[in-house]
Amino acid sequence: KKAITTSTIKAMKQQGEPITMVTAYDVAMARNVNEAGVEMILVGDSVGNVMLGYGSTVPVTMEEMLHHTKAVMRACGTALVVADMPFMSYQASIADGLYNAARFLKETGCTAVKLEGGSEICELVQKMVAAGIPVVGHIGLTPQSVNQMGGFKVQGKDVAAAQKLLDDAKALEAAGAFAIVLECVPAALAAKVTAELKTAATIGIGAGNSCDGQVLVCNDLLGFSDGFCPKFAKKYSDLHGSIVSAVQQYIREVKERSFPAPEHTFKIDDEVLEKLY
Ligand code: KIV
Ligand code: NA
Repeated sequence: KKAITTSTIKAMKQQGEPITMVTAYDVAMARNVNEAGVEMILVGDSVGNVMLGYGSTVPVTMEEMLHHTKAVMRACGTALVVADMPFMSYQASIADGLYNAARFLKETGCTAVKLEGGSEICELVQKMVAAGIPVVGHIGLTPQSVNQMGGFKVQGKDVAAAQKLLDDAKALEAAGAFAIVLECVPAALAAKVTAELKTAATIGIGAGNSCDGQVLVCNDLLGFSDGFCPKFAKKYSDLHGSIVSAVQQYIREVKERSFPAPEHTFKIDDEVLEKLY
């Protein structure tokens, strides 16, 4: 199977072939989702919530993102790997944004970076693309702005907000973004944005089935936790249940000394033992 590039993603949009993306944060998950055949892996700053136990993505650092992106890159699959730029790694200045984006490509070998925001980041996006850094945009619900937005809610519901979302999508496309995540956007608005964009593929999460592609957080998709699951996520598995029952079985077998069994056990010649004093 051939490695997926930004050209593959653009061609898929033109051909109307849905694009699949999931998050991964380590080599084990990245190997599995590569084998499943996903086109893109996102090393999301959701690593903060999902893997590190932060309450939001706001505390996530460049060093944490680089650490997890390096691990994902060691899976050596065909999926195109996109790394999320963490909060305040690109907002303070254009120079910061270029420098930090380049760190992902140079230090991890990933192909692209993702940034939250619309027209306000377009000058930076343009310079990144001009410098050879493929960019994925992210508009609608942008979790790094949760403190400003006052919670996690559906975006773009009134005329002004819907128009801004459409304008931001077009501005990101014009700046050279090859894909744009639409998070928590009404389905009909996401469909309109998707139809209006000529080159940038829309990747929806809570944005209906008309987007050019879809993204889910791997832990949500796999049912890794029995806690809160957002309305837009579907649990395709119950790994939480599988993990708890597997570990419970291990506990039982250790307590009753049925694990380890002979096949898990190393042997020694009796005569060796007999010579010991
Ligand atoms: O960090 C993340 O997982 C994301 C996706 C939800 C798009 O940004
Ligand atoms: Na993110």
